[in-house]
Amino acid sequence: MCGIVGYIGNRDGADIVLAGLKALEYRGYDSAGMALLDKNNKPTLLKQVGRVDGLEKLLNEEKPADAAIAIGHTRWATHGGPSVLNAHPHSNTSKTIFVVHNGIIENYAELKDWLQTEGYKFISATDTEVLPHLIDHYYKQSNSFEEAFTKTLKEVRGAYAILASTTTEPGKLYAARLSSPMVIGVGQDECIVASDPSAILAHTKEVIYVQDNEMVVVEAGTCHITDLIHDEKVQRETETLDFDVNTAELGDYPHFMLKEIHEAPQTIRLASLGRVNAATNTVKLGGLDSVVNQLSHVDRIVIVACGTSYYAGLVGEYLLEEIAGIPVEVQLASEFKYREEPFCRSTALLAISQSGETADTIAALKKVEDYGVLRLGVVNAIGSTIARMTDAGVYCHAGPEQAVASTKAFIAQVMVLMQIALHLAKEGNELYKPMLEEIEALPAKAEAILKQADTIKAIAEKYKDYRDFLFIGRRYAYPGALEGALKLKEVSYIHAEGYAAGEMKHGPLAMIDENFPTFALAGDGPLLEKTISNMQEIRARSGKIVAVTTEGVNTVAQHADDVIYIPKTLEQTEPILHAVAMQLFSYYVATAKGLDVDRPRNLAKSVTVE
Ligand code: F6R
Repeated sequence: MCGIVGYIGNRDGADIVLAGLKALEYRGYDSAGMALLDKNNKPTLLKQVGRVDGLEKLLNEEKPADAAIAIGHTRWATHGGPSVLNAHPHSNTSKTIFVVHNGIIENYAELKDWLQTEGYKFISATDTEVLPHLIDHYYKQSNSFEEAFTKTLKEVRGAYAILASTTTEPGKLYAARLSSPMVIGVGQDECIVASDPSAILAHTKEVIYVQDNEMVVVEAGTCHITDLIHDEKVQRETETLDFDVNTAELGDYPHFMLKEIHEAPQTIRLASLGRVNAATNTVKLGGLDSVVNQLSHVDRIVIVACGTSYYAGLVGEYLLEEIAGIPVEVQLASEFKYREEPFCRSTALLAISQSGETADTIAALKKVEDYGVLRLGVVNAIGSTIARMTDAGVYCHAGPEQAVASTKAFIAQVMVLMQIALHLAKEGNELYKPMLEEIEALPAKAEAILKQADTIKAIAEKYKDYRDFLFIGRRYAYPGALEGALKLKEVSYIHAEGYAAGEMKHGPLAMIDENFPTFALAGDGPLLEKTISNMQEIRARSGKIVAVTTEGVNTVAQHADDVIYIPKTLEQTEPILHAVAMQLFSYYVATAKGLDVDRPRNLAKSVTVE
C-alpha cells in the first residue's frame, strides 16, 4: 500500500527519496509525489499519476539544486481516485507545510467541515488534506510547528504514519505514527524516514522504529522522540537491520515472483536453520523460550491472519492438532476483531503475518490485549509491529518478499508452524523423528520441482485462456488448494476457487463442464483413492484436470489431462511441495497472459488499512 520516504541531510534529498520510492514500488500504488525544500527553503511540489518513473521525469525537468529536505509518497487510492490532486504530498494553501500520510484519518469529514467554516479551502478528495490545514491552523496560534503538529495529532483519529516538512522551521522533519509502520534510518549527518526499511537499506542499517503515539522531530543525523500519551521525551538506541540488500534485487530473473519461487529451497533451509536437528532428534525454537511455562498451560490456540497467511494458518491447524494434540481454530483477522466469542485465558492467540504490518491482524492482537492471554507471532518482517506486540514468536527468516503475491513467505510460514507443532508435540509422537528427517530432505525436493519449471510452464500455457478454475484437495492438501486458488486469481485474474475435494457433490460439481478445469492435489496420502473418485466425477462431466501427484503413483495420470509429479514426502510436509508447483503454475499462466505478475492490479503488498 502507500509508501513514505523522507530525507534530511547534506546529500541530494530528491535522488535519495526517489530511490527510496522505487524500493517501495513493490507495495503497490497508483500515484507518486514529492515535496522538496532547497537550501534557501524554497519549496517544489511534484505529483503525478502512475509509476515512480513518471515522477523521475518530472524531477529531471523541475529539480531544484541541493534539495536538502525531501518527502515523498507512493499512494494507493482509498479516499478519492488516483489523480494529481489526490496524490501526496498535500499542503496548506500558502504552501509552507507539506504532508505525506499512510493510513486513514477516520474523523476527517468532521475536521474538514470545521476547517472549511474557518475559511480553509480543500482541493482534493483525500482524508490526508485535513492534516496540513489543521497544522496551519494551530501554527497560526502558537508559531511553533512542533506544537501545531502535536495538537493536530491529538485531534485526529484513525491509523497513520505521517511525515511533514515546513518552510517555517528549516532543518527539521516531523514524523508520527499510530498503527502504521514508520522507521528512521540514522546515518552520519543525515536521516532517512520511511514506512518500510527497504527504502533505507542502501544508506544505513542503523534504524529507530517509531512506536504508536510517538512524535519525532527528525534532524540531520539525530531524532528527538516524544511519547504523546505521557507527554514525555523518549530515549531510544538505534537497532541494526539484518536485511541483505541483494535480496531486494532481481538478479537474472525477469520477475520477483519467479525469483522468490526459486528461493523455496533456501527458504526451507533458513526457516529451519539452527532449529531442527534430525541427528539429535531435537527442535529448538529460541523465540518461544521466554514463554515455556505459559505455553504448558495452553489448551487451545486461535490463529489469526489474512490471505495467504490465513491459508498457512489452516495448514498449521492440521499440524498442531495432529502433532501437538492442541485444538486449533483459524480465523480471518478481519472477522475475529468484530466477533463476540468467549475467550479463556488458557487460549493462546497466534498471529501469522509476512509483513507484520497488516492492519486487521494488528487489530486482532489489540482486541485481546486486556484478556491476559498469550499472544504469539509467526512473522517474517523483523522488528515489524506484530513482531513487537506479541509476547513471543518465531521469525520466518524468508527475507524481504517483493512480489505482491506471497510465495516464499507462505512456505516459510508453514515450515515454522510445522516446527511449532513439533516443539509442542507430546513425547513419543510417532511423527516426530520422520518429520525432522523429512524437513532436512525438503530443500532438495523443492529443487526437484523447480527443475520441472519448463514442464509446468507448458501446462500453464495450455490453460491460460480459461476463465474459471477449481482447486481441490483433502486433509493437508485442502488448505493448499485454497492457497493455490488465491495465487492463480491474484496474478492471472482467472476466477479460481479452492474446495475440499469431499465437498464436490455438495455444490461445486454443478459448475463443472469442458470450460471449467480443475487443479487436483492428489498425492499418495491416505485419501488418494477418494480424491481419485472426485477426479473421475469431474471427468465424467467433461471437466479437464491438472493433477499434482507423487512420483511413482501410476493411478492418477489416467484420470487427468496433465500431471505434475512431485517427489515423495510425508503428507504433513506435502503442502510445501504443492505450493512450489502451484506457484510456478500461477506464475506461468499470468506471464503467458502478459500480465504484470509482480504488481497485480488493485493489490498492495502490505495492507496497512482496514
Ligand atoms: C496473497 C497475499 C496476501 C497476504 C495478506 C496478509 O499472495 O500476499 O493475501 O498474505 O495480505 O499479509 P501479511 O502476511 O503481510 O499479514
